Amino acid sequence: MPLNTEREQWGSKIGLILAVAGNAVGLGNFLRFPVQAAQNGGGAFMIPYFIFFLILGIPLMWIEWGIGRHGGRFNHGSAPGMFDVLWKHKLAKYFGTLGLFMSMVILIYYTYIESWTLGYSIFSITGYYFDQHTADAMRTFLYNYQGRATGEHFTGILPAYILMFITFGLNFWVLFKGISKGIEKLAKIALPLLLIFAAILAVRIMFLGTPDPSLPANSVWNGYGFIWNPNVSLLSDPKIWLAAAGQIFFTLSVGMGTIHAYASYLKPKDDIALSGLTTAATNGFAEVVLGAAIAIPVAVAFFGLQTTQEFAKGGAFDLGFVSMPLIFQRIPLGQVLGFLWFLLLFFAGITSSVAMGQPVIAFLEDEFGFSRKKAVGVLATVVLIAVQFVVFYQKYGFLNEMDYWAGTFGLVVFALVETVLFMWVFGAGKAWKEMNEGGDIQIPRVFYYLMKFVTPVVLFVLMIWWFVESAIPKLLLVGVPDVNKPYYWGSRALMVVIFIGLILLVRKAWQLKANKEESN
Ligand code: PHE
Repeated sequence: MPLNTEREQWGSKIGLILAVAGNAVGLGNFLRFPVQAAQNGGGAFMIPYFIFFLILGIPLMWIEWGIGRHGGRFNHGSAPGMFDVLWKHKLAKYFGTLGLFMSMVILIYYTYIESWTLGYSIFSITGYYFDQHTADAMRTFLYNYQGRATGEHFTGILPAYILMFITFGLNFWVLFKGISKGIEKLAKIALPLLLIFAAILAVRIMFLGTPDPSLPANSVWNGYGFIWNPNVSLLSDPKIWLAAAGQIFFTLSVGMGTIHAYASYLKPKDDIALSGLTTAATNGFAEVVLGAAIAIPVAVAFFGLQTTQEFAKGGAFDLGFVSMPLIFQRIPLGQVLGFLWFLLLFFAGITSSVAMGQPVIAFLEDEFGFSRKKAVGVLATVVLIAVQFVVFYQKYGFLNEMDYWAGTFGLVVFALVETVLFMWVFGAGKAWKEMNEGGDIQIPRVFYYLMKFVTPVVLFVLMIWWFVESAIPKLLLVGVPDVNKPYYWGSRALMVVIFIGLILLVRKAWQLKANKEESN
């Protein structure tokens, strides 16, 4: 068995857990979750959410930690090599390409969004948007910043562009520093801070009660009620189930290849069972306790339930970048609270985006023998080229298209592939042993059956359902204005180019290895 003496390692167990929790806790918890919950019936959304957390989220977390640590033993930090170890077939590594593709594509658009939060934290503390008192004005401010509309605050896209550049620079700098000195160190600072900021905001919002006594229905309590009182009659709508499953994937960072990469730097006898559960639980806490207690209740308190839902329908960013800034303008210490909110988002974002870079870096290091510097340099170059399209064509839907295929649909596909490979091809018995090896707890036996039978079947059904329900209309560009269509095709072309490029790299890596073995 190859030794992994040269591989990097996590510095400490707490550091590792913070890093994986930082990977999972992201913009998904504080921006995407409230929007999804508000769009999908609030309380009704939470029922499938918890069901999928149990039958998909937690099992996949353990499966990915298991595959990752196992692969790390053979010096593989990314899915192609990991799958190659699980399944002795020449196609296995190509399936693993999905684990490079998903994380890399998400990295490209996610980090751009992350850079807005950095910008908005500055605009909050300086009070730069504090003269924009209506939703329309705030939306124009956002579009102006994004270069989609003219306005008085920004003369063009340059500020957004510079902040994008700084954000990418920070990300690649952390990645360049490596696992324990970069990613782990960042997580140790950023994760506790962001949890504290979120708690401060959640408590402050709770005390807002009913800001306008003449409108008693507009209270934070009704906001909580919206999320926690399910209207079960809505559950017959399949859309709610698909949305909940999608949120579970995205928020836990499963089905992307990033958990595997982090787990590959574990020692073979390090605990997985408890650590995997702890990260899933931390993410759940950050989402349903903290994430649920900020954007929705405060919007309900100030604008009422109906307008809150309209904000959510208005798009992925209206609650965070339009509704929240309006509220900060109306409460004492709003500039400081706004700063905390956007800085919290930035910390949540960066501890996730570095995770998205790691699979490709590990791939270049492990399979091509690149130095970390070279691997980071190659990834940075490609990503910085690709992000240009995202920045300039965002207004035409370029980003949405990437988010759908790589950030939603693709995750189910990758999760299905890895579950089948681990639990059926590699074998449920061996997989179970691997996941429990060195464990600080024993995984309850019921999960064995869940992972072997329920998880793959549910994933398969979801994949098909999703395909029929949304992938086909997406493919056919239903509802996309004609002027935007070329950009959707452009987005697809970019993804295809990235995917083919990765496939060719995987092939090349294994050819080089075969040649080396021959000459030995
Ligand atoms: N889980 C992260 C979030 O909630 C997103 C993420 C996606 C992280 C892909 C890593 C990889 O925002």
